[in-house]
Amino acid sequence: MTASPHHQLDGVDLDALAARLGTPLYVYSASAIRQRIQSLQAALHGTDSLICFAVKANSNRGVLALMHAQGVGADIVSAGELWRAMQAGIPPEHIVFSGVGKSEQEIVEALDAGILRFNVESHDELLTLQRLAQSRGTTARAAVRINPDVDAQTHEKISTGKAENKFGVSIDEARRWFAARHALSHVQLDGLHVHIGSQILSLGPYREALKRVAAFWRELAAGGHVLASIDVGGGLGVCYREGHDHPVDAADYIATVREALAGFEGRLLFEPGRYLVGEAGVLLTRAIRVKHGEERNFLVLDAAMNDLARPSLYDAWHDIAPVGSNTHPATTYDIVGPVCETGDTFARGRTLPACSPGDLLMIHTAGAYGASMSSTYNSRPLAAEVMVDDGRYAVVRQRQRFEDMVAGEQLAGHWESV
Ligand code: LLP
Repeated sequence: MTASPHHQLDGVDLDALAARLGTPLYVYSASAIRQRIQSLQAALHGTDSLICFAVKANSNRGVLALMHAQGVGADIVSAGELWRAMQAGIPPEHIVFSGVGKSEQEIVEALDAGILRFNVESHDELLTLQRLAQSRGTTARAAVRINPDVDAQTHEKISTGKAENKFGVSIDEARRWFAARHALSHVQLDGLHVHIGSQILSLGPYREALKRVAAFWRELAAGGHVLASIDVGGGLGVCYREGHDHPVDAADYIATVREALAGFEGRLLFEPGRYLVGEAGVLLTRAIRVKHGEERNFLVLDAAMNDLARPSLYDAWHDIAPVGSNTHPATTYDIVGPVCETGDTFARGRTLPACSPGDLLMIHTAGAYGASMSSTYNSRPLAAEVMVDDGRYAVVRQRQRFEDMVAGEQLAGHWESV
């Protein structure tokens, strides 16, 4: 759900909000997030399942607390995300830990917190987990992340399930882990995990990956290995370009998973990120100026690649529209930010009603991988983030002040030897 009509989001007037809080401003609709959660939960009705929100998509603790209030846990990839999730009230038994590079320190923190499950991505990690769990006198619950060698048909930088990608292990390797699992005194290896990529717009790649995972689960069951859970990852795509992107229906996606894993008696885990928050968020920004170049018109915004990196990193399309009514003649612009790089471009050759300095615009579908990937490049303080809910708003991140931006930095006045 995006803003419709285009001057309001979740009953809050966007012009007034921008006037009050300034721009660039991330705005998240709590109702839209709840709706997305409910659409998955409804389709999962009657199953033993847990949705663990991929924190990397939007790590704001206000958003995480909303997830928790709806019974959603967290999929984390770092100790920082563990800390945020727990600060937001998400209990450890609702937290799963993914990632190829969990450090020893991070593993220890997650063990001490008592998280639900480690999604283990390499043999070295498995042995490290065993050693650290033993040294802490605890038992780690673990799933092996399977790399099913499936093409998710998405942007290569966000595809993760092909053999050439760094993620997970082959089924052959996983088979050896299970065969030797009794040697693991402090790791309870009783789960499978698979995540093939992100912004997936068709069910085919899911079906293919799940088919392989299901065959492996059945083979393990036949060998007497009972699995407590299968984690099917995230990846569900959203609409970035109206009329062009056709996301999969959530109910069809869940039906596909249920069908592929029919007969599985353990728990189903899901790790959606983008699906839950992407379309629920917009980035509000004002036009700073219009520049008529030799060859192109440039619309220069006060948001930039440091606020929303996706267009410059992945050539990602985001719909961009004026907020409110603008009946000026259609004009074609390159829409850019103020950062000193050509890559600081949100859109090339995009046609909009003619804009003037000070006009408020919104960049759609900015709730996922927007604020969480932002930086202060060009010494641009982090944008504010606000949640809107049924006509009211709550700031969930203050706009960074210069003092916050340099916190921890110091002049090299005091030199020491190691
Ligand atoms: N689980 C694992 C193990 C993951 O690596 C990811 C995302 C997810 C779940 C959540 O995937 P989602 O449901 O959001 O597609 N920055 C990129 C996306 C990177 C995704 C990384 N992994 C972007 O802006 O498109």
